[in-house]
Amino acid sequence: MPSVLIIGGQVKTEQEARIDELRKQIREHDRRYYNDAAPTISDREYDRLLDELKQLEAKNRHYFTPDSPTQRVGGEPLDGFRKVEHAYPMLSIDNTYNREDLKKWIERCQEALGDPIDQDGTLPGGYLAEPKIDGVAINLRYEQGLLVLATTRGDGSQGDDVTQNVRTIRSIPLRLQNSENTSIPEVVEIRGEIFMPNFEFERINESFSAAGQEGFANPRNATAGTLKLLDSETVAQRKLQFIAHGRGEVLGYESATQSEFLSALGSWGIPTNPLTKPCQGIHEIWELIQEFDTHRSNLTYGVDGVVIKVDPLDLQERLGTTSRFPRWCIAYKYPAEQAATRLLQVDWQVGKTGKLTPRATMDPVFIAGTTVQHATLHNYGEILRKDIRIGDLVIIEKAGEIIPQVVRVEIAERPHKSSPIQPPAECPDCQGEIEAEHDDSGKETSRFCVNPECPAQLRERLIHFAARGQMNIDGMGEKVIHQLSGAGLLNSFGDIFKLSQRREALLNLERMGEKKVNNLLAAIEAAKLRGLDRVLVGLGIRHVGSTAASVLARHYQTLEAMQLASIEEIQSFQVAGQESGIGPEIAKSLHLFLHSTAGKFVINELKEANVVLSMPIQESPEGLLAFTGKTFVVTGKLEKYTRDEIHTMVRQHGGRTSGSISKKTDFLIAGGKAGSKLEKAKQLGINVLSESEFESFLHEHSP
Ligand code: IVH
Repeated sequence: MPSVLIIGGQVKTEQEARIDELRKQIREHDRRYYNDAAPTISDREYDRLLDELKQLEAKNRHYFTPDSPTQRVGGEPLDGFRKVEHAYPMLSIDNTYNREDLKKWIERCQEALGDPIDQDGTLPGGYLAEPKIDGVAINLRYEQGLLVLATTRGDGSQGDDVTQNVRTIRSIPLRLQNSENTSIPEVVEIRGEIFMPNFEFERINESFSAAGQEGFANPRNATAGTLKLLDSETVAQRKLQFIAHGRGEVLGYESATQSEFLSALGSWGIPTNPLTKPCQGIHEIWELIQEFDTHRSNLTYGVDGVVIKVDPLDLQERLGTTSRFPRWCIAYKYPAEQAATRLLQVDWQVGKTGKLTPRATMDPVFIAGTTVQHATLHNYGEILRKDIRIGDLVIIEKAGEIIPQVVRVEIAERPHKSSPIQPPAECPDCQGEIEAEHDDSGKETSRFCVNPECPAQLRERLIHFAARGQMNIDGMGEKVIHQLSGAGLLNSFGDIFKLSQRREALLNLERMGEKKVNNLLAAIEAAKLRGLDRVLVGLGIRHVGSTAASVLARHYQTLEAMQLASIEEIQSFQVAGQESGIGPEIAKSLHLFLHSTAGKFVINELKEANVVLSMPIQESPEGLLAFTGKTFVVTGKLEKYTRDEIHTMVRQHGGRTSGSISKKTDFLIAGGKAGSKLEKAKQLGINVLSESEFESFLHEHSP
């Protein structure tokens, strides 16, 4: 008989009381950590509290509540995201880039409100200036104080239901708290930004790179990519954060101003930006913008501007919205961040087409949230135009994306010992012959290595072929490709698919254990099934990008059909009665490749390796393929393949895939932590396969 306590008139067991206490403590620590940025316990102590709670909840299942901190750890992987209509559209903000345009916006507000247009641009009730966080917009819906829905912006009127992922974000309370006795509204939709702190972005990219995988381009992409993961356990590990800045539907609560609403959010435990400031008139607004610019680089998240809002909500309502923007707010966007650093060295990198790209190495410098040491100089023509020399103080800029650019040189700071950058006279990798390309006025633009057998070019082509958008071979990133080609194991695209016969050689390489080799070989096996469109992009045929490849592959269906087409045919076929978008340049280049000796050699190698050179079979002749007429469902956390990959494999072998288990399901492929689907499949007596069982099944049944 468990001991019983009486707390606040309620009868509770000792364990239930401890559960309550732990939940309260953990919520308080979340608040201190995320909302106040002032934790009072170590991560280890925190984890210990969470573990204790998990164990107690497991023993007391009747005492479950959906807002328990244990519910943040992620659940069963999803099949996809449900689309949800927004109660109020999620609009965008109009941008300005200078003081003058800000002033014009103020005058438009004054005019629309029938106020006198004055010099300074004051408005009754004033404005609010908020940092513009460079993250991903989200709408959080709380009903009776409980988080019930989180949706992305999507197209503005409809977004994705990402609730399961958002529940893992510790700065978002699962239940609104009532600390200052402001009553909790019946419904409140809170809008704000989800973002990945810069240090977390660097940590994740480092671990991608250690695993030989491509990282994210910037923290915003990392945030968007993480929110779109179907597996919320991975999301939970990525430590996203949230800051609120607005509202959607609100029922049962009223405030007169945006600032009042923000402070109510604070009292409900929702993080708001402490840097938000009230202001009045253009002079003050501009001063705030300037001041804020001086310390935004010290923040842990990216801020690309300041949003100015008319504070009183009744004025906001009177100003209304256009179809795209509210008229009551505007964003001032800062120019891309710049930094000055010393240029130490330039080396020339050979691209997959042989183009030589100069890459600068500089003194490490902190810019827009990360430390950078390299910048691209594009080509030799650019070096001449900007008169860039080794030893120069260069101004670099990070314009949203990862690779910084050298904007200009600080000529006045040029040291005496600066030296001009010499373009290479031979290929830095194969020492082969070089050709220069010139523009119409005869000025040199780029240099190319013209040796068709240049190992560096081959390596770059292989990296492109194996990368995410193409063959997507997990574990075959830049480092591994360097290692394998250095060991003489990779001399062509076809060699990738011969690696399964070189197991011993692979195992003899450094940092290549049994498990890594198995995973790599399985990933290569899966890559054979990507389809003709992805192979075409992967081959890196000049002018054939992903859009063209997809149009071509869908039209011709097989590589053989493509080989039979003439240049004229390729550039003139229509898609659904419209021009296909394949012009003479693409047509010529594709035709040339398909009929060249090198092209024929590659195609032959891929055929011999059983790489699928057609599009997924839609209607297959009965009985011909392994999975014809069979329906598969995939569930749980997969290790070897992504869900998409399994779906493709099933379809390419004539099978169908579905998101839910029914009597019509033939197979369930179950990864780790499979939940309700596995239960149901067992009840219905459906065959359950693990990933490796599925693989062997596929092998056995493949023709
Ligand atoms: S107010 C009608 N305030 O910027 C939109 N937006 O470029 C009202 N953003 O979609 C939004 N910080 O996701 C507002 N302090 C802030 C913001 C902010 C970032 C985002 C927001 C919006 C995007 C537009």
